[in-house]
Amino acid sequence: MDNKKFRELKTDILIIGAGGAGLRAAIEAYDAGAKVTIVSKSLLGKAHTVMAEGGIAASIADVDNEDNWKVHFSDTFVEGAYLGDWKMIEILVKEAPDRVYELEQYGALFDRTPHGKIMQRAFGGHTYKRLCHIGDRTGLEIIRVLEDQVLHRGIQVLDETIITKLAVSSGRIIGAVGLEYMTGDFIAISCKAVILASGGCGRLYKTTSNSLESTGDGLALAYDVGCALVNMEMVQFHPTGMVYPESVKGLLVTEGIRGEGGILLNNKGERFMKRYSPKRMELDARDVVARAIYNEIIKGNGTEHGGVYLDIAHKGAAFIKKKLPAMYDQFKDFADIDITKQKMEVAPTVHYHMGGVKVDAETYATNVKGLYAAGEITGGLHGANRLGGNSLADILIFGRRAGIWSAKYALHLETGNREILKAQLQNEIKRINSYLGSGEETSQYNNGKFRIYELSDALRQIMNEDVGIIRNANGLHNAMKVLETIKNEINNVKISGTTKYNRGLLTMIELENQLIIAECIIRSAIERKESRGAHFRSDFPKKYKKWLKWIICRKKNGRLSLYTSPFKQIPKRFSFIPKEKYS
Ligand code: FUM
Repeated sequence: MDNKKFRELKTDILIIGAGGAGLRAAIEAYDAGAKVTIVSKSLLGKAHTVMAEGGIAASIADVDNEDNWKVHFSDTFVEGAYLGDWKMIEILVKEAPDRVYELEQYGALFDRTPHGKIMQRAFGGHTYKRLCHIGDRTGLEIIRVLEDQVLHRGIQVLDETIITKLAVSSGRIIGAVGLEYMTGDFIAISCKAVILASGGCGRLYKTTSNSLESTGDGLALAYDVGCALVNMEMVQFHPTGMVYPESVKGLLVTEGIRGEGGILLNNKGERFMKRYSPKRMELDARDVVARAIYNEIIKGNGTEHGGVYLDIAHKGAAFIKKKLPAMYDQFKDFADIDITKQKMEVAPTVHYHMGGVKVDAETYATNVKGLYAAGEITGGLHGANRLGGNSLADILIFGRRAGIWSAKYALHLETGNREILKAQLQNEIKRINSYLGSGEETSQYNNGKFRIYELSDALRQIMNEDVGIIRNANGLHNAMKVLETIKNEINNVKISGTTKYNRGLLTMIELENQLIIAECIIRSAIERKESRGAHFRSDFPKKYKKWLKWIICRKKNGRLSLYTSPFKQIPKRFSFIPKEKYS
């Protein structure tokens, strides 16, 4: 049953992940002269980037001409609850316009104003209409044009392959090892640099907008080789996901609907946001709107299917079909709801992780030589809460930078020690084959027979229940207990079948990774005894100055260790930012 077959590859730069950050990094590294290989756990084009539907944030001021980088900076820093890295934010807001124009050169067809400028829409927490968009399919269009660029360059893409281990020798990255599902063969890739661009970990939760692939594998790879992970407690709940039918629960309902005038109502027909945010109403930042919806639901003001109403019908059918065609189709196809006439039912859904791998603000290099990261997998830029549209700017800007800097690093290097890579390969072959076995896939957890999917489900369920929008010490400690049980139980599970296209085996590998990342999230959430941005503790409902710092997770002697790092003081030249208030 065991598969000991493997193949070997050699490249300069290995990019793990084929979403927007990975593709943009690949273009840049290739153009700098590097041989680039992209590995995708899924198929090229199937990326969480497409779930950033409503637009890309850039202060190009085509619609609101008072907009500029300073306002964008201030919005991002303030709504990130003052926890964002100011250097990263400065780069983001200054470079975003160039990346939008570049997308146009790549062939992206942005919506236009009647004067032919790029159309921009309002989004939560942005002072001005700032989101350049292609209807409500912006992420999809970005992936389309980036994919074109990658394919035309002939960059090698390995689909349906999971990287399970990074290889490090003398403190530098020398390659990676993984499993190709199609063949069931192991693969050893020798390289000079790796860019982690594998996205976030939304699939740790039961209710999420994230696709099946977002299991935090890249975060676990980084943790394993000694990278610091920051702000792991900061999980973003997008205010509006679908609530029914069950099969699409959590699927994203774009903020673009509220940006175009959609309103939120409870079961009494009350526009409840006026009680939570009288000035900004539905267009406050995501943490505020998500908590408001959550509160309405638990107060008993929710809808039949456990959400609240979102209504855009007053804008008329022609407007809706032109501006929000994907949402029109999505509700028609999945819920038999015509949003030009009927209200939608929505509730918060896990959408994004502000926490992630700690990187240098300029180069996006990690603390491990030759290891870079870009996109959602990184932490720091968005602080405690991300503004919608900033992630599309993030992946392009920092994907490009990771491509440039990894190529600069790699092009002068010799290939690393292949014997060490081969040894890692043998270890991985042994480890992964040890998950396979004949007999029942059972354990005694919960007095029942338990298969790997049920363990995976138990983790997602407890994350939903106890590590959600509102947390407290009791719930978080309970989540840790369940996590420990799952950790023990997983050792009793054997997966039947072989390494070839084995969904159970993949779930096992992913669950090992998820358990590491869930522990980082829960323990960081226990540690942060305050409420800031997306992290809300009912037992510590206020924000405290002493907590204006990052919590860092790191592997030490094989175990997770937590410490805090003092916050980088923001220089005086940013004095245009309002001072943080503490009550
Ligand atoms: O609601 C949305 O369209 C999501 C955008 C984002 O996450 O940036």
